[in-house]
Amino acid sequence: MESGHTLSPTAWGICLHWLLWHGADITSVTPGGWTAAHIAAIRGQDACIQALIMNGADLSVQDDRGCTPSHLAATHGHSYTLQVMLRSGVDPNVSDKYDWKPVHYASFHGRLGCVQLLVKWGAAIEDVDQNGNLPVHVAAMEGHLYCFKFLLSRMSSMKQALKVFNDNGENAMDLAQRFFKDNIVQFIQGAEIEGDNQNNQENLTFPGHVAAYKGDLEMLKKLVENGIININERDDNESTLLHRAAGQDHIECLQWLIEMGADVNITNKDGETAADTAKKFAHLSAVSLLVGLQKYEVEENDEIDDQDVKFFERHGVQGSTDAKDELSQSEAEKTNARKRAYEKVVELRRLLEIAESNFKQLGGISEGDIKQKKEDQESRRMIKELQVQLEGERLRREKLECQLDECRAEASHRQTPVDQIHLNNVVSMEHDSSDSNKDKRKVTKKITSSGGIFMRRS
Ligand SMILES: *[C@@H]1O[C@H](CO)[C@@H](O)[C@H](O)[C@H]1NC(C)=O
Ligand SMILES: *[C@@H]1O[C@H](CO)[C@@H](O)[C@H](O)[C@H]1NC(C)=O
Ligand SMILES: *[C@@H]1O[C@H](CO)[C@@H](O)[C@H](O)[C@H]1NC(C)=O
Ligand SMILES: *[C@@H]1O[C@H](CO)[C@@H](O)[C@H](O)[C@H]1NC(C)=O
Repeated sequence: MESGHTLSPTAWGICLHWLLWHGADITSVTPGGWTAAHIAAIRGQDACIQALIMNGADLSVQDDRGCTPSHLAATHGHSYTLQVMLRSGVDPNVSDKYDWKPVHYASFHGRLGCVQLLVKWGAAIEDVDQNGNLPVHVAAMEGHLYCFKFLLSRMSSMKQALKVFNDNGENAMDLAQRFFKDNIVQFIQGAEIEGDNQNNQENLTFPGHVAAYKGDLEMLKKLVENGIININERDDNESTLLHRAAGQDHIECLQWLIEMGADVNITNKDGETAADTAKKFAHLSAVSLLVGLQKYEVEENDEIDDQDVKFFERHGVQGSTDAKDELSQSEAEKTNARKRAYEKVVELRRLLEIAESNFKQLGGISEGDIKQKKEDQESRRMIKELQVQLEGERLRREKLECQLDECRAEASHRQTPVDQIHLNNVVSMEHDSSDSNKDKRKVTKKITSSGGIFMRRS
């Protein structure tokens, strides 16, 4: 399968289980005309859709309103589920009974991720429904500014698009005014002054990713909580919001995304999880947050102990240089101060011994035990980090090897005519020189494959 997803029998089992749980049967149809695929689309169960596809489910089945599963995934903003369907060859231009295509539904419900995806897959955004409404019209009447802006930017002419009337004689501005969508009205008014604005393509396309990249948690919350984007939305590089926040070490955003149930296991186009991305930029706290919250466990377990350690450190003043009054102290005063300090250490040591023995008698765990535990946890954390790093290196190596193979293939392809030339030469040459030709070829090969630069040959 193109997406590289393989579905284990367990996943299929879970899918079936899920379907049964929701009262569906693969072969049956609900009174509204929904098949199992319709239901999976509504719920955004992409593994399930995949399983259904692999088991030959028909994704072009229409319900009573003429909606296919892709219409429903677009309605509910499940962009990844929709992508799974589009990858399997579903027609992005399929119409329901009112000539609404999935892109109409996505625009009407303000599902930016789905609108983008559909546009990427060649959906018709200049086609109208039964009432002459373009997707921009339905986005305008519902006040979905992000979708509206994005659709406009992808239409052949923004100015023309704003002028198009539906069968009711209303253009986007009229609809926005009639339904009191001030954001759209203001945008159109601004756009008419500014004219076409091409230079913030990324902001238009992936506002959530831009917000995650900038660490703008408020914006991110707004976009996700209003269902404009999905928590696991992917950009052109298949990076999620987590990837973008991890790359910039925006801990607050990461915490919020994780709390909201963002999937930390999603890999981008380069096969990296968000943790890998954080690792790449050495954002260690982001790594530990994404890798398994190990660091936080350590802190929780040893809270009381940490306080103890600090307490003793504060009294062990040797080496401390930042006490201001030290500058004005005479040598004798300093000696006295040290002596007092030392006496304090001795006294405390004695008290500590007593405290420790009391603590043990009461069944407490010794400081040594805790230290040992802490060290163990630290090593486990390091092992995990190194494993992540190793995994990243392995992926990188695989990619490089792939490139190497391609270069080798390319090199040998280009060498064939040269070999023939060599061969022709060899006939008229001695043994020695043919050997040296061979050597030369090896060297050339090496340069070609590692650098990716091909030698020019006539
Ligand atoms: C969908 O419609 C658009 C515009 O009419 C067209 O360019 C595109 O090829 C269509 N896609 C498919 C898969 O039919
Ligand atoms: C995106 O919008 C912000 C303002 O919200 C602006 O500062 C930034 O330059 C824009 N980014 C791009 C790529 O245009
Ligand atoms: C995708 O990756 C390419 C190359 O790494 C980069 O130039 C581009 O900006 C990325 N796109 C997004 C949307 O992050
Ligand atoms: C991510 O993968 C791990 C290990 O494979 C698994 O335990 C965890 O449940 C997964 N998390 C999500 C959100 O799927």
